[in-house]
Amino acid sequence: MNLSKHVLITGTTSGLGRGLLEYYAGAGIQVTAVNRRKCDELEAHFPRVSFRLADVRQQEKIRDLIVHLAESGDLPDLFILNAGINRVDNDSFFDVGIFNEVMETNLLGVMNFVAPITQLEKLSKKVSVVAISSMGSGLPNPYCLSYHVSKRALTASFDVLSEMYAGTPLCFKQVVLGPVPTAIHDTSHKFPKIMSEIKKIFSVSLPEAVQSIVKFSETDQKTLILPWPAYFLFRAVRMAQTAIPGFYRGRKTMDGRKREPKERREETVKHA
Ligand SMILES: NC(=O)c1ccc[n+]([C@@H]2O[C@H](COP(=O)([O-])OP(=O)(O)OC[C@H]3O[C@@H](n4cnc5c(N)ncnc54)[C@H](OP(=O)(O)O)[C@@H]3O)[C@@H](O)[C@H]2O)c1
Repeated sequence: MNLSKHVLITGTTSGLGRGLLEYYAGAGIQVTAVNRRKCDELEAHFPRVSFRLADVRQQEKIRDLIVHLAESGDLPDLFILNAGINRVDNDSFFDVGIFNEVMETNLLGVMNFVAPITQLEKLSKKVSVVAISSMGSGLPNPYCLSYHVSKRALTASFDVLSEMYAGTPLCFKQVVLGPVPTAIHDTSHKFPKIMSEIKKIFSVSLPEAVQSIVKFSETDQKTLILPWPAYFLFRAVRMAQTAIPGFYRGRKTMDGRKREPKERREETVKHA
């Protein structure tokens, strides 16, 4: 397999991003890693990787980085925009602060790269931009509303971008990823044990996910669905969510409390 010459990866301090960094650096590929915190252990392990300190939400910093890389003739030919978070933002109440944090990271944190890349003049080589989306884009976890919304918007954006830039040197691609065991926040332990067991069965291992993403990144394919069995599981749960009254719709809080009707809550406030 022919690998890109220079790969930029966001969020390499753990999980998938770290796995990808290890793969590319191990294969002798030039890697630029964009992380929001310095990780001495990682930097000691990979002295040839260029570590850039930036939070993907810092729009100007990201733009300056892309402009600098382009002007110095060192523009990566592959961007893997992987950094992402999951948070509970909609359990006993909806938390707009957390919602914003997730949207700014998962959606804008990717678009902050897309904007300066699309502004580069006369690309002299093919540049691929890979977003890491999620099967959660098609199945709302009601308690993590921003995760669903951010990944759904990310997928929609990359669907449009990949069509718009078809036939140009800029190639927009996305991975619609199912469960991979990493440090990302996961709520399945809050539900009946069977759910996390099923999730485990349908997950893909980290090395497998890394291998598949590396391979996909070098193709002209626009979307990678990984793994397919999880995709069918997510579709089936989505159908059940739509068809079975109350199923996985967040009618109870995660610790099992029933939502109070609005009128009763107002009464409670009046009598407080
Ligand atoms: N694991 C799954 O089951 C799964 C499924 C579908 C999609 N995904 C997607 O895969 C991607 C990688 O997730 P993961 O599972 O590998 O999670 P992870 O182990 O938690 O890694 C997330 C990485 O993103 C970084 N990051 C978070 N916010 C950032 C910010 N504002 N600026 C820069 N870096 C930031 C984290 O840095 P810190 O170490 O500093 O926090 C970490 O390096 C995410 O986009 C996620 O949504 C994962």
